[in-house]
Amino acid sequence: MITVIGSLNMDLVVQMEAFPKQGETILGKDFQTMPGGKGANQAVAAARLGIEIAMIGCVGSDSFGETLRTVLQQEHIQTEAIASTSVPTGIANILIYNNDNRIIVVPGANYELKPDHIEAAKEIIQKSQMVIMQLEIPMETTAYAIKLCKEANVPVLLNPAPAANFNMQWMEDITYITPNETECKQLFGDHFDQLLEKYPNKMIITLGSDGARYFDGEYPIHVPGFMTNAVDTTGAGDTFNGALAYALVEGQSLDQAVYFANLAASLSVEKYGAQSGMPTLEAVYARMAGEE
Ligand code: RIB
Ligand code: NA
Repeated sequence: MITVIGSLNMDLVVQMEAFPKQGETILGKDFQTMPGGKGANQAVAAARLGIEIAMIGCVGSDSFGETLRTVLQQEHIQTEAIASTSVPTGIANILIYNNDNRIIVVPGANYELKPDHIEAAKEIIQKSQMVIMQLEIPMETTAYAIKLCKEANVPVLLNPAPAANFNMQWMEDITYITPNETECKQLFGDHFDQLLEKYPNKMIITLGSDGARYFDGEYPIHVPGFMTNAVDTTGAGDTFNGALAYALVEGQSLDQAVYFANLAASLSVEKYGAQSGMPTLEAVYARMAGEE
């Protein structure tokens, strides 16, 4: 069983022919509300692959919050540890043009997830095989959760996205960290080779369709990515993280797990929305067979 501690957002997605310039009003092509938030996305990515998932988070007592909860239940994710608050559910305003996106996140209820909520969900965490976190919740909450996992000997996969609310001291206590190149530069600087060597088998830098890199203690490893027909890359990183956690918990080696996660992420970008393209285990294996 994997526990995801993190954000739930309603994504307000507008497709357009061009991004508006300052002071300009343009007509969009299409509008959709779609479930998102890095926490919920990573939970769905792992759940689709067929592992038991519990989610710890916080939504508003509003219709978005209710929808997000229901969506996770439909994915067979345990939602008992998702709290409700009078603060509105988090949203992400997502503009899509070609396969490029621009995102504004308003955390709302996600910032009401407090250490007390983590403490209340202690038993779920203690029996987890892995805990996945991102950085869309308050820093004190992330810190509390990491400490609790350390005490309980539960491995932590931290996806440091967005690159804020991060404490360098956490590096000692977490098991895996998966920044993309931008996040890596923002948090650690851009001497990637040195960084990877400093954190062997712990830091995995994701490179979009180029795959991912890590250092295995002896050699630098580059796991190549896959060419795809990307229509919407929103949630590709989340699919990578959910799939990576799944594969590691299932006992795959880091090398295999990164390959598996790359493949899952490449499938996810073929559909609009963060969660809609996330593959099942069968879909990943089918693509894997096609690749060989
Ligand atoms: O990683 C993609 C997610 O980031 C979106 O679903 C959006 O909600 C933001 O949190
Ligand atoms: Na997608």
